[in-house]
Amino acid sequence: MKMIKTSLAMVTVFAMGLSTSVLATGDAAKGQEIAAGVCAGCHGADGNSIIPNFPSLAGQQPEYLLKQLMEFKADENGVAVRNNAAMTPMVAELSKEDMENLAAFYASQKRAPGKVPDDSDLVALGKILYHGGNIENGVPACASCHGPTGTGIPPRYPALAGQHADYTMTQLDLFNKGERTNDNKVMQQVLTRMSGAEKRAVSAYIQGMH
Ligand code: HEC
Ligand code: HEC
Repeated sequence: MKMIKTSLAMVTVFAMGLSTSVLATGDAAKGQEIAAGVCAGCHGADGNSIIPNFPSLAGQQPEYLLKQLMEFKADENGVAVRNNAAMTPMVAELSKEDMENLAAFYASQKRAPGKVPDDSDLVALGKILYHGGNIENGVPACASCHGPTGTGIPPRYPALAGQHADYTMTQLDLFNKGERTNDNKVMQQVLTRMSGAEKRAVSAYIQGMH
């Protein structure tokens, strides 16, 4: 009886996952046309950004990219699920199909390896946190959701490997302050018990992962 209950609970969780995920089946060539005209200046022609505040998009999961693009779009009251002054105007004129095409294009590109930061103590601490968490404070291992090599787990858990440390740090702060809230409170929970030093360390480690 107990086993049946457990498996039912798992089916429910799985079904919930499906209903909140969005499947991307876009046309990468059409996506590239929009990307070259509008997005390349900040995110790089192939989705590898060279500016530390602008995230690299190359090789990211299409479902995650599509979810973000839809959530940057403001509703009729001007409110976006993921509010960002740079991105909200960028997606204002895009249709869902445009977004699917963009997601397919960036997902098909190869993520360039990020530079391993010079501070080896910081990177070493970040590595411990990423793979093992902090048992004392109850910080979970990032690897359990974002994968041991940082490639993420489709469709819900984004790839992190090689991402700019500055961008990652900004997102961790935004989740922590409750200013980025499109994570179903998952990342917000992860961050409640993390120190500033831990956030910097794990961001540094992620940049050098490949
Ligand atoms: C003026 C610079 C700029 C331009 C142009 C721009 N972006 Fe962005 N983009 C940003 C910034 C800054 C962020 C990070 C936002 C944040 O901190 O939440 C971002 C974030 C994103 C994200 C979320 C990435 C992640 O890992 O969560 C996606 C997807 C994205 N942009 C796609 C696009 C697309 C597609 C276009 C073209 C239609 C575009 N961007 C044009 C600056 C730009
Ligand atoms: C229980 C699962 C889980 C754990 C553990 C977890 N994450 Fe996440 N993380 C998520 C989910 C889900 C999202 C996607 C939120 C969304 O859809 O926008 C996310 C998003 C992120 C993002 C935003 C990515 C982007 O491109 O903007 C970063 C950065 C991040 N996580 C870092 C971490 C770090 C660092 C750790 C370890 C300290 C961690 N995560 C642990 C589930 C998790």
